[in-house]
Amino acid sequence: MDSLFSLAGKTAVITGCATGIGQGLAVGLAKAGADIIALDIADLEDTRQKVTGLGRVCGCYHVDLADSHSIDTAWNALLSDFKTVDILFNNAGMQYRASAFEYPEAMFDKIVAVNLKAAYLLSQKAARHFQSRGCPGKIINTASLFTTFGGVEVSGYTCTKHGIMGMTKALSNELAPYGICVNAIAPGYIQTELTRAIWSDPERRGPMDARIPLGRWGTPADFEGIAVFLASSASDYITGVMIPVDGGYTVR
Ligand SMILES: NC(=O)c1ccc[n+]([C@@H]2O[C@H](COP(=O)([O-])OP(=O)(O)OC[C@H]3O[C@@H](n4cnc5c(N)ncnc54)[C@H](O)[C@@H]3O)[C@@H](O)[C@H]2O)c1
Repeated sequence: MDSLFSLAGKTAVITGCATGIGQGLAVGLAKAGADIIALDIADLEDTRQKVTGLGRVCGCYHVDLADSHSIDTAWNALLSDFKTVDILFNNAGMQYRASAFEYPEAMFDKIVAVNLKAAYLLSQKAARHFQSRGCPGKIINTASLFTTFGGVEVSGYTCTKHGIMGMTKALSNELAPYGICVNAIAPGYIQTELTRAIWSDPERRGPMDARIPLGRWGTPADFEGIAVFLASSASDYITGVMIPVDGGYTVR
């Protein structure tokens, strides 16, 4: 049973893991034996300490996912350092709130670049790498409640998170013949920087609190298990799906 979930000898690239859900993913994969290649625009020292504290290697690469040249540079550097990648977790994301009447074009372009285009470009690079090695691989994308719902005053974000699921389905079809599985996770309401404005305001968080069947907001640690499942051979016959990690919120 242990070998089903073991990631010993595997290397995982994770975007947006300086904090929040991505850090939870990194810690989960490291606990299962994977070395971590961390990509972020923010300081990765805290994640590096957590991963190396578990006895795993953690390579840290500064990247601005809004910039495809920065993505190219980071990918070339990490491949030159690590030689092989087995798992890609496209997790980084940003939010920008504005009415659909006012949503600025520059912010729409930026949120699409960070939340969607970067995930596509990195998936393409990972797929080529997996194929060239003739090895199976795993690509996992972080979706959202707004992959299912429309939301209010988050239209740019919603476009990207619906796009993430379209990408997950399309790539799962094309990459399955090469033994590459492409799946998504859909976090519910998770206490991170991204949602601080909501969970730190009792009035704003009230409706969410009342609707979560498991009775609490999620934490980054709640993502350790799903990360290991989708990255390991335990999920080898699963591709093209989205798994909610939301305390039951979506089906309430
Ligand atoms: N927190 C929630 O409730 C929630 C719910 C649904 C989906 N999500 C998704 O989960 C993912 C992680 O979010 P989180 O809640 O942990 O937020 P977070 O803000 O804690 O983490 C986001 C990470 O992405 C990085 N990042 C942002 N822009 C970047 C850029 N241009 N280049 C490189 N890195 C960049 C940040 O530095 C940060 O480390 C996102 O895709 C988000 O949309 C979060």
